[in-house]
Amino acid sequence: MTKLEGVRACVFDAYGTLFDIHAPLRKLAPEIGPEAENISKLWRQKQLEYTWLRSLMGVHADFWHVTGDALDYALEHYKVHELGLRDEIMALYLKLEAYPDVVESLQAVRNKGKRTAILSNGSPSMLDSAVRHAGVEKLFDAVLSVEDVGIYKPSRRVYRHAMQKLQLHDAPSICFVSANSWDAQAAAQFGFQAVRVNRFGLADDRIPGRPAALIADLGSLAALI
Ligand code: 2OP
Repeated sequence: MTKLEGVRACVFDAYGTLFDIHAPLRKLAPEIGPEAENISKLWRQKQLEYTWLRSLMGVHADFWHVTGDALDYALEHYKVHELGLRDEIMALYLKLEAYPDVVESLQAVRNKGKRTAILSNGSPSMLDSAVRHAGVEKLFDAVLSVEDVGIYKPSRRVYRHAMQKLQLHDAPSICFVSANSWDAQAAAQFGFQAVRVNRFGLADDRIPGRPAALIADLGSLAALI
């Protein structure tokens, strides 16, 4: 079993890592029909694409705006136009369930004396809503949004922001946890000890950076640090 040395804080990606991004379309599948899962996947793909494209274009908009634009694209692509459905889906995105392994694993990390934080593309109001509705606000010492930086992950400025806010001056003292391969790898490339939680059965992306560990769920995290 890999052992990560010198970890002072565990910093978590939010959407897709702590919060179940496919829960809204899963819940509304009876209304939407057999394409619900494909709509959710295309929505997520476009949401991330738009963050990367806007960062490269230098035209920032917050994650609520980008998430709405991506949903509009996915619903149009699958010709779903029921009135009010778009707003119903967006409202559910503010109240995403935490994955079942989150509460116990966060408590186990904190019981080992490590600080815990979120570092997410989400806007402050989105993240505030997410942690409150999932009932996990007491499990984090800090909830950090890219809105404080004005550019999306995987910009190095975002990972550096976490070091500054946590007042940690040695990148490997942060264990960064994400289910998004590109995010975990970019964090590793930045200098964090990155752990990828393999929620979606993904391979490593062919980009720089290799996580220090790959785990099937967050239950294995505390034993690593
Ligand atoms: C997050 O920043 C990448 O969407 C993911 O929470």
